[in-house]
Amino acid sequence: MKVVVFKNKRKASKFISEIICEEIINNPNLVLCLATGRTMKPVYRQFIKKIYKEKINLNKIHTFNLDEYIGLKQNSREKFRYFMDKNFFNKVKLKNSQISFLNPYASNLKKECDRYENEINKFGGIDLTILGIGRDGHIGFNEPGSGRKSRTRVVKLNKLTRKDNKIFFHSFRKVPKEALTMGIDTIMHSKKIILIAFGRNKNEAVQKAINGKISDEISASFLQNHKDVTIVLDSFAARKLD
Ligand code: F6R
Repeated sequence: MKVVVFKNKRKASKFISEIICEEIINNPNLVLCLATGRTMKPVYRQFIKKIYKEKINLNKIHTFNLDEYIGLKQNSREKFRYFMDKNFFNKVKLKNSQISFLNPYASNLKKECDRYENEINKFGGIDLTILGIGRDGHIGFNEPGSGRKSRTRVVKLNKLTRKDNKIFFHSFRKVPKEALTMGIDTIMHSKKIILIAFGRNKNEAVQKAINGKISDEISASFLQNHKDVTIVLDSFAARKLD
């Protein structure tokens, strides 16, 4: 795995947006897999700046998102779809037809997960996946115990993950207990992966993901076996690395 450390998240986010833009220039039909969350906010900010500055043409790209909560109201502002509309899709005027999202309102969630997997395959697989990491080492919402062969499915969220996401919901009680997520195997099929971590509270998970043993206790450790992973960190998240 290639590990790149920056002084701060702004510099790191600039670097990440350069990679994504380069990938789009090289392949205008790029299929992207995207994450939400605090880490992604500065990344989308820099990415959008670069898109406008360099006049990057997004007309042919397609995006999939990693995950979505189950149990929120259709119009909830805490939905990942709302986050993406607000922080990225609307700002770059991506068309609805360019966006794929897991539908937590489907009457049969198992079928919905299979539909998502089939849709990814229909697009020829994912070219570039952008991941954050949870304090428990999760990628997507693959909490500890998620198997290497796991695919898109319904998952239960950890107490720690729910606690960390409380900030978006104002009360712990309101944080959903379940979500839909792409699986580890789904993520591992992406041709290229960038994993991002900012801040001191991620340094233990980062250290275990990069230097620890590959195990389902730290989902991100499975990435050690992927052939094209770049880990982008700020100095705080890198603090426990040798
Ligand atoms: C979100 C996702 C999660 C987050 C992770 C880090 O779509 O897939 O894996 O990337 O929980 O979240 P933040 O960036 O809020 O610390």
